[in-house]
Amino acid sequence: MSTFTVDYDQVAAEYARHRQVHPGVLRGLCEAARDVKSRVLEVGCGTGNYVVTLESLVGPACWGLDPSEEMLSRARARSGTIDFQAGHAERLDYPSGFFDLVFSVDVIHHIGDRPSYIHEAHRVLAAGGRMCTVTDSEWIIRHRQPLATCFPQTVPAELNRYPRIAVLRRMMTEAGFSQITESTVEYAYELTDIQAYRDKAYSALHVIPEDAFQRGLARMEHDLRAGPIPCVSRYTLLWGAKQGSEGERL
Ligand SMILES: C[S@@+](CC[C@H](N)C(=O)[O-])C[C@H]1O[C@@H](n2cnc3c(N)ncnc32)[C@H](O)[C@@H]1O
Repeated sequence: MSTFTVDYDQVAAEYARHRQVHPGVLRGLCEAARDVKSRVLEVGCGTGNYVVTLESLVGPACWGLDPSEEMLSRARARSGTIDFQAGHAERLDYPSGFFDLVFSVDVIHHIGDRPSYIHEAHRVLAAGGRMCTVTDSEWIIRHRQPLATCFPQTVPAELNRYPRIAVLRRMMTEAGFSQITESTVEYAYELTDIQAYRDKAYSALHVIPEDAFQRGLARMEHDLRAGPIPCVSRYTLLWGAKQGSEGERL
């Protein structure tokens, strides 16, 4: 397991400035949140990108959990109705059988004790409720564009930091989840402004030495002079369901 950590209290401003929702991820979560009667928890909600958008598009009752007060203060400024709490994934301070959907985006690699989180997610879900872990598979990490090409040292460092999908699937089975499925979403775009990379708004840029980071930036600046940089953002959505009738709260 990686011992690397990012201090999200330190990077909250850059994160809020640069990071946006992935349309494919949002679509999957909106479908799963279903309707206004659902109860949804985002674990590691950060500045609230996903849970705030989900609330405004679908209208379920929403909760957000994150250990970083700086990230949470930005999330709270975006929604007065979502219940944002400070805390860690490994210990969910909510009643058993309470939620219809528990999800995390880009968080599972930060969680030290993943089996505890997955057990907790199973506990707080109602029968028929679903868990979704949005993360990067090994293939995605090896093919990230522009990270893997401009900053190749991110690849081994990130493979060390991210759990494999097969390992997460096994943990979900052990926690009692069924109907475990995965899908990958992608979004292609052209990069014309590399400020997010200069600001290290991606935690992968914190795991490489400074000289490797500077070489990558120089390469991006060189590529940009020839025109916009083609990029693809991909995520794997890993789903599981808690057995029981749909909508049945314990
Ligand atoms: C890459 S950010 C993702 C934020 C948000 N999900 C998004 O996609 O915009 C990772 C977040 O995970 C949070 N985090 C780190 N360790 C955590 C833990 N053990 N439990 C819950 N959240 C954690 C960080 O504070 C940070 O806000």
